[in-house]
Amino acid sequence: MRCPVIIGDCTLYQGDCLEILPTLGKVDAVITSPPYNCGKDYGTAGDDRSLADLEGLIRGACFSGAAKRTVINVGQYIGSRSERIMFRDLVCRAAVSQPFDEVIWDKGPANGAAWGNYPTSPRIRAQHESIYVFGNLTMPNGNGLSWGEWSRLTTSIWRVSPNVDLSTHPAMMPTQIAERCCSLWSDVKGTVVDPFMGSGTTGVACAKMGRRFIGIELDPGYFEIACKRIEEAYRQPDMFVEPPSKPHQEKLI
Ligand SMILES: C[S@@+](CC[C@H](N)C(=O)[O-])C[C@H]1O[C@@H](n2cnc3c(N)ncnc32)[C@H](O)[C@@H]1O
Repeated sequence: MRCPVIIGDCTLYQGDCLEILPTLGKVDAVITSPPYNCGKDYGTAGDDRSLADLEGLIRGACFSGAAKRTVINVGQYIGSRSERIMFRDLVCRAAVSQPFDEVIWDKGPANGAAWGNYPTSPRIRAQHESIYVFGNLTMPNGNGLSWGEWSRLTTSIWRVSPNVDLSTHPAMMPTQIAERCCSLWSDVKGTVVDPFMGSGTTGVACAKMGRRFIGIELDPGYFEIACKRIEEAYRQPDMFVEPPSKPHQEKLI
C-alpha cells in the first residue's frame, strides 16, 4: 500500500480496499459502485471473478461494519448466461440483510444488442441500474438539503443520462448520480468512503459538496485519473450547484 494522497478533505489510497479498509476508523457512509464482473477493462484489477469471490469482496468492502450506511449502485444482472443472477440478490447475500430503500436510475433508451434470439427467446435489455441503501439512515447533523431539494430527490426514479464517453474509465458514473447519493445519504459532518473509487466520481461529488472523502482504487492508472479529477473539482466550483442563499430579514408588514 502506498502512502495516501491528500487533496483538500479527500484522502486517496492506491491499493486493495480489503487491505486498506481495516486500517481506517468508523465512517458515516460507503457510497460506491462495485466491479460489474462482466469483463470490463479495469486494468490490473480485472473484472472476471467467480460470483462467490465477488460476494466476498462486496461484503468486506461495503458491509464490514465500519460504515453506518451503505449506498451501492449496481446493474440488473451479473454473471454469464448460464450462471446469471440478479445483482440485487448477490448484494443482499453480501449484506446479509435486505435494503432499506431502492432508487431506479433510469438511463433512458436501452443501447446494445438484445440478448436472446428473435422470436423464440427474448431477453430484457436493461435501461436502468439500481441504487440500494442499507443500514442506519439517521444523520445527527442532517444532510444539508433545502426542503425543495429534499422533495425532489426523495423519489424512486432518477432519470439521469449515462456518460457517453467512457474513454476515461469503462464504468464512470455520472457525477449527478454521485452528487444525489451524497446529498441524500451523507451527514454534512460525516466522511464518505468509496472502496471502488475508479475514476473518482464519488470523490468529485464530495469535493464539490464539502464532504470529507476517502477513496481506494486498485489500478494505478485509474488512481491517477481520480486524483486529477478531484484536484480539478476543488479548482472549479460547480456552476450548477447553487451557493447557499444569504440570510435575510422578512418584512413584518
Ligand atoms: C464499477 S468501477 C467504479 C467506477 C467509479 N464509480 C467511477 O465513477 O469511475 C469499480 C472499480 O473498482 C476497482 N477495484 C476492483 N477491485 C478492487 C479492490 N480490491 N480494491 C480497490 N479497487 C478495486 C476497479 O479497478 C474499478 O475501477
